[in-house]
Amino acid sequence: MSGMGSKMLELDDEDELKDFRACFVDDRSGVNYLDGNSLGRLSRAARDSIMTAIDQEWGVELIRGWEHWGELSFAIGDTLAAELLGAASGQVVVADSTSVNLYKVIMAAHSLVPDRRVLLADLNDFPTDRYILEGIAKANRMELRFIATAMDEPVVADDFAPYLDDDVAVVVLSQVNYRSGALNDLAQIAYTVHSVGAMLVGDLSHSVGAVPIALDDDDIDFAVGCTYKYLNGGPGSPAFLYARRRLQAELTQPIWGWFSARDQFTMAPGYEPVAGIGRFLVGTPPVLQLRALEGALTVVCEAGIERLRAKSLRQTELAIELFEQVLAPHGFRLASPRLGPERGGHVSFEHPHAQELTSILLRDHRVLVDYRAPNRVRFAPSPLYTSFAQVYEGIMALAKAVES
Ligand SMILES: Cc1ncc(COP(=O)(O)O)c(C=O)c1O
Repeated sequence: MSGMGSKMLELDDEDELKDFRACFVDDRSGVNYLDGNSLGRLSRAARDSIMTAIDQEWGVELIRGWEHWGELSFAIGDTLAAELLGAASGQVVVADSTSVNLYKVIMAAHSLVPDRRVLLADLNDFPTDRYILEGIAKANRMELRFIATAMDEPVVADDFAPYLDDDVAVVVLSQVNYRSGALNDLAQIAYTVHSVGAMLVGDLSHSVGAVPIALDDDDIDFAVGCTYKYLNGGPGSPAFLYARRRLQAELTQPIWGWFSARDQFTMAPGYEPVAGIGRFLVGTPPVLQLRALEGALTVVCEAGIERLRAKSLRQTELAIELFEQVLAPHGFRLASPRLGPERGGHVSFEHPHAQELTSILLRDHRVLVDYRAPNRVRFAPSPLYTSFAQVYEGIMALAKAVES
């Protein structure tokens, strides 16, 4: 065995989280899965939870299940708040998709500063964030300003400063960039955004479950995020939404559905929202997916975000070390921050043939990673189930793919 091979065995042996691999169903995928930030793997707890919900709840309780299903969006929201988001209870709810939640919170944020006409976003942010903003700007005759940020580095408050004035209503920014994995300092940006009286919406899709988050302490106004990435909630599992408690009473969200109406079953002629975070609900939540997420979260919470972050940093560090040895000589460029504190849970490598190489990796080496336009290969080890050996093998396979 090569020196590196035995070093990987050692790292895997010393890994504090190694036993969590057994929390996931036997891997029959036939691939080295390094795409946990697109869709997390299926845990036994998620599978058991959804199967119980199917057999015991839907199968037996039928409509009577709603005597307790209504609580799920709030209970899971509170778990996320306490364990992963650094938020007190009553500020997070789980419902709808991240895109729909973005629409709701951007409009709600604007309802707090209705005379302001400008929306501000990062030109390199995830498409859905930019598109939702574009739609809101068009429908409401607002101006949408894009900040031209560096694609592979964290966005800093100074990047925003030249675009901020007292007409800015809402700023939207991902905490971890989907392409580069750059980790943005939301606390610092919130401070700058608040200095002109604007509101900040954070998209935590690539940070939740990968890095510690402190929404309350960082003074973030609103946040949204996916649950099917590092939280392993399953394809289409509903997103979460955070709204600061002190803002909740005054705001209006734009989709008035019966799940947020006061006295839902009086079927009143007009809409009046409930008090609290429940006013962000719209319609019937996906109960089976909520149950899957509830199960999946037990695994994430047991590992704990501090241990997850520590292992994730070591794994991305290893990927970067190997990049220097075997990828840089083949014309790859590191398209992620080199410094750990500036990085989320994934790393990207730029190469002119990134798309083709991603396909070759899967076809010839059974390594599953993402391609992200314009020319990046994205590696996302998920610390709950990815071994150090898998990180090593993934990078070495990429080197072989480019040699061939
Ligand atoms: C930053 C970010 N926001 C939002 C989404 C997706 O939103 P939705 O669940 O509505 O498809 C993604 C998906 O990858 C994402 O990376």
